[in-house]
Amino acid sequence: MGATVVDHALALHHLTIVRDQETSSSQFRHSLSQLSTFVAIEATARLKLDTCQVQTPIVETTGHRISYRLGLVPILRAGVIMVDPVLNLIPDAEVWHLGLYRDEATAQPVPYYNKLPEGSPVDVALVLDPMLATGGSACLALQSMQDWGVKQTIMVSVIASPEGVQRVNDEFPNTQVFACAVDEKLNEQKYIVPGLGDAGDRVFNTV
Ligand code: PRP
Ligand code: URA
Repeated sequence: MGATVVDHALALHHLTIVRDQETSSSQFRHSLSQLSTFVAIEATARLKLDTCQVQTPIVETTGHRISYRLGLVPILRAGVIMVDPVLNLIPDAEVWHLGLYRDEATAQPVPYYNKLPEGSPVDVALVLDPMLATGGSACLALQSMQDWGVKQTIMVSVIASPEGVQRVNDEFPNTQVFACAVDEKLNEQKYIVPGLGDAGDRVFNTV
């Protein structure tokens, strides 16, 4: 299974900007937003569509539309930067936030915000997080989707590690993983190598 990786010259260009430690927070946000658009286009390329009739000024013809509930599920904090680029592509999507942070000592995800309702799940959920490192945060978010009753989940990340992709593949074999890059490995602190450092801090200028 693995991950589907975006293959585009401009994605490589923006990846280099976000990796560069000299990049300012505003440039970082800009390039991460562009990367979010590229990976979201790839992740939604095969979404199911319903056919419909549409009247053009000339004639009636057959069109296509998404006629089910589609949810964006950003993982706070860094996933927030992905919301607007994806909403630009899918303006009618619902946005359901999940708050998770990694314990610095253990790298285990700690949940701190979840206002998902009882029942009434979206039909398709795109889980948004630029970093897929150990996969702990992604798997906890995907478990929340499963518990909510979501039938189809898609993991949308920007930089992934091989370990994180493998973990999502193992624990959620029906979830497709998309990224702009799958990097080399994790280091001892469970940061992605070469990666881009701490995404949340760089997005929100809290380094
Ligand atoms: C980062 C990132 C992911 C998580 C990935 O968030 O945005 O949510 O780490 O790591 P994992 O795959 O090993 O779980 P972080 O925990 O640093 O929180 P923040 O966005 O609030 O800084
Ligand atoms: N979280 C990040 O922000 N970066 C990493 O490399 C790993 C987890």
